[in-house]
Amino acid sequence: MKIISSANELKKYLREQNKSIGYVPTMGALHEGHISLIREARKNNALVVVSIFVNPTQFLAGEDLQKYPRRDEADKKICELAGVDIVFMPDTQALYFDDEVKIVAPNVRGYVLEGATRPGHFSGVLRVVMKLLNIVKPTHAYFGKKDAQQLNLIELMVKHYFLDVTIVPVDTVRDSDGLALSSRNVYLSKEERQEALKIPKSLYHASKMISNGIIATQEIEAEMLAILEPLEVGYVAIVNREFEVVKEVSVGNCIILVEALVGSTRLLDNIWL
Ligand code: PAJ
Repeated sequence: MKIISSANELKKYLREQNKSIGYVPTMGALHEGHISLIREARKNNALVVVSIFVNPTQFLAGEDLQKYPRRDEADKKICELAGVDIVFMPDTQALYFDDEVKIVAPNVRGYVLEGATRPGHFSGVLRVVMKLLNIVKPTHAYFGKKDAQQLNLIELMVKHYFLDVTIVPVDTVRDSDGLALSSRNVYLSKEERQEALKIPKSLYHASKMISNGIIATQEIEAEMLAILEPLEVGYVAIVNREFEVVKEVSVGNCIILVEALVGSTRLLDNIWL
């Protein structure tokens, strides 16, 4: 497994190989969720590239950029065991320039839900993903459905900027208790982790209501909010694949999203129906 920190060196190396490339962008502190993306990439590409970069532009002032878990050595081992060919670990100077040309999130879809809670966050995500995709030029790039809005905005960017890559969505990996895996779960105390289980419980309850024939989103959201109490809920939303709020669930074109604060940790989860 090769470790590369220079963008130009990685570009040169990958172009020389001239092989199909599966790419998994991450911010490190790798867990089974990331590994499942890597496994998908391994299935369909000759080379697998993982990047590990805690991207400063997607953190808002006062967020956890400084304390975001960094586990470079453990992450390299995980990549090696998962069959990764190249780990790209740039520093900020390797990716960003002074007074640079910026890509920004769309006015509507980038500023609802997670974008409303964290205004500007998605501009930072798109900025770095655009750079990374241009450096790696993958055949396929793998993103988790756990970050549904991020995935959707990246799909839009690929379309709007005519990028030559296939985006592959990957299902959310959960712990045995139902909590979606996240690098931020390490912030939770034992008690907070128990409280956090209300998030998957509320989603599970919503899917049960829907299988019992209830499709009015207001009714579903009200019961979800009751389950989530006393957590501070950022949003509970039922949207279609275009991220528009809908009044009725239509199975096959619906995502139910929750964002809640557990202690001081903001957690995201969702189910796709
Ligand atoms: P990060 O949070 O490290 O996540 C990297 C990828 O792993 C994302 O596509 C995310 O959706 C996916 N992922 C996280 N938890 C998952 C889970 N439990 N199951 C399946 N997939 C999961 O998302 C980012 O980094 C950054 O915003 C990034 C895209 C790298 C840009 O900086």
